[in-house]
Amino acid sequence: MSEFSRTLVTSALPYANGPVHLGHLAGVYLPADMYVRYKRLKGEDVIHIGGSDEHGVPITLTAEKEGISPKDVVDRYHTMNLDAFTKCGISFDYYGRTSSPLHHETAQDFFREIEQKGIFRKKSEKQFFDPKAGRFLSDRYVTGTCPICSNPEANGDQCEQCGTHLSPVELINPKSKLSDATPELRETMHWYFPLGRFQPALEAFVNSHEEDWRQNVVNYSRTWLRQGLSDRAITRDLNWGIAVPLDSDDAAGKVLYVWFDAVLGYISFTKEWAEKQGDAERWKTYWQDPGSRLVNFIGKDNVVFHTLMFPAILLAWNEGRRTGIYNLADNVPASEFMNFEGRKFSKSRNYAVYLGEFLEKFPADTLRYSIAMNYPESKDTDFSWTDYQNRTNGELADTLGNFIKRSVDFTRARFDAVVPVECTTEEWASLGIDWPETLRQLDEAFEQFHFREAVSIGMDVARSANRFLTGSEPWKVIKSDPEAAAKTMALSLNLCHALSLLLYPVIPETCNRIHSMLGFEGTLEEQFVRGRSMVDVLLASPLKKGHRIGEKSEILFVKLDDSDIEPELRKIEKLLQQAERKEASAVEAEMVFKPEITFDDFLKVDLRVAKVLAAEKVKKAGKLLKLQLQVGASTRQVLAGIAKNYKPEEMVGKNVVLVANLAPRKIRDEVSEGMILAVEGDGGDLFVIEPSGTEINGKQVQ
Ligand code: 2FM
Ligand code: ZN
Repeated sequence: MSEFSRTLVTSALPYANGPVHLGHLAGVYLPADMYVRYKRLKGEDVIHIGGSDEHGVPITLTAEKEGISPKDVVDRYHTMNLDAFTKCGISFDYYGRTSSPLHHETAQDFFREIEQKGIFRKKSEKQFFDPKAGRFLSDRYVTGTCPICSNPEANGDQCEQCGTHLSPVELINPKSKLSDATPELRETMHWYFPLGRFQPALEAFVNSHEEDWRQNVVNYSRTWLRQGLSDRAITRDLNWGIAVPLDSDDAAGKVLYVWFDAVLGYISFTKEWAEKQGDAERWKTYWQDPGSRLVNFIGKDNVVFHTLMFPAILLAWNEGRRTGIYNLADNVPASEFMNFEGRKFSKSRNYAVYLGEFLEKFPADTLRYSIAMNYPESKDTDFSWTDYQNRTNGELADTLGNFIKRSVDFTRARFDAVVPVECTTEEWASLGIDWPETLRQLDEAFEQFHFREAVSIGMDVARSANRFLTGSEPWKVIKSDPEAAAKTMALSLNLCHALSLLLYPVIPETCNRIHSMLGFEGTLEEQFVRGRSMVDVLLASPLKKGHRIGEKSEILFVKLDDSDIEPELRKIEKLLQQAERKEASAVEAEMVFKPEITFDDFLKVDLRVAKVLAAEKVKKAGKLLKLQLQVGASTRQVLAGIAKNYKPEEMVGKNVVLVANLAPRKIRDEVSEGMILAVEGDGGDLFVIEPSGTEINGKQVQ
């Protein structure tokens, strides 16, 4: 028995700066929806909370790019995404938005509480300022050349080309994205959340879930914990977001960092849900009653915000309190990524299939089924049109749809649309399906977030049912043994009913159609009663003798012809070509030679042959190697972004070319005294230039 009597499920709040795509659906929203639907089926108390993340730089950048206001951006995409989720059957109990007044109030309450406890630290730091725009620049507003791989379009927080996390001051030739101006460093004050203060509590929290959390979630969290948690700025100089709720002068023009406010959206939206239920205090039961379980569905890129940052905020709130204590997450099922036709979905490259657009052409349940069968639980998976076509035709239409239709049609044709006989417990048990074991496995699969397995269990029953009906041949047997044919149909109809329950979490709309084909009034959901598990009902074969089935017989799944998916395949080809052209033009762009320099300019660069004496990886920077070089009589330390192509031990003993008179730079708390020359090949591989010759160490390259 679970120690919990209710469950609060949350789904990561997508930024309202673009339409959600199938990758988002696969990683977060569909698994969360299947989970809550299964819980409802079991008669459990569960609510599903989601909504739009409407603050932060992703929104303001989109607004600036499109020349509209941030509010226009979020209004457009909030509505679009909510609409797409609704069409896809994602059954949120509440879908909020972080621009709502109650959310602003909630986030500000948290800030004030933590501020009053004296937990925040205020620090002044030098940050880039755009003198033309008159604004401080958040990390993503600064672009420049990556110090690691020389990508000229690296962002201030990360280089997309080599993946290195950067700080804007590390960029070479930084530029403001607002005006193209060269930004200046100016002092600015911010509030910092001291994550390190909560390190022991967070370690204990993660350790306590070593067994029940996914390995990737524990590992990501531990990597951060091992490196030691440091202070994180939780305010920003931006004109879009939640104002820092203090009257002091230093709070003017500052807003809360988007991640500080977004995670609190789960709480605000539960409050809004409770208000809508007419019981404004009810949110507390889900957040603060120890009998409530919190489950956060997210993608792998959001792990530490949910396993460290959000819990730390809640711990800071809880500190010193006797009431109003928040529960921390009981599980954080983070998915890997689902790729699309072998490539990563990419919003910025427009390489994606958007959910809303997909549902204009194809039904939600066929998509839900295909995606569930490709759920990226422990490794990245792939969605392809061919797989979608095969699953729709072979599994949904030929197996499930065909079985339901044959059962219903034959009963109508030969038994006057009535369940002809009672099917006994023994007969039900004799189908060759071990019901108690099947239901146990189903429960385990859903409760442990093994969604592919959970859906496969339902589809295996559909296969057995199909085999049973085909093998029993009631259409032949009816001539010689009408009673046997009647038994077959009573069992088949009960199997249809069982399937409508087993597959309900994944294909709810279809299961409702089966429900009405079987002659039930109203929706399947109306049958769910708190405290009564429909899964147990299934064991009792509830379609009794004399039950009249529905009037309508439907084709549940329309098969997909090649001609249906051909336009989609052509579209991908185009998208791929566009992506390749973009990559190719980047290569061509490199062929545009730099502006001419004089010989004297060239002579300013002091290139020397150096020998690698030692090499090691750099902590927190997967791409960097720290090299100790011998240059004639002196030694130098240089950081080089070559770890992807060279192991440290491979570098030792190599001759390299050192740019010896480059001003030293600090990267990742280490000083780099120069650069070594390397060539970048296709796909970003770096090849170090290795001069050969005798007694050349320390000699000039010219
Ligand atoms: O990565 C994202 O898209 C974020 N908007 C997710 C936020 S999840 C939660 F904290 F709100
Ligand atoms: Zn880079």
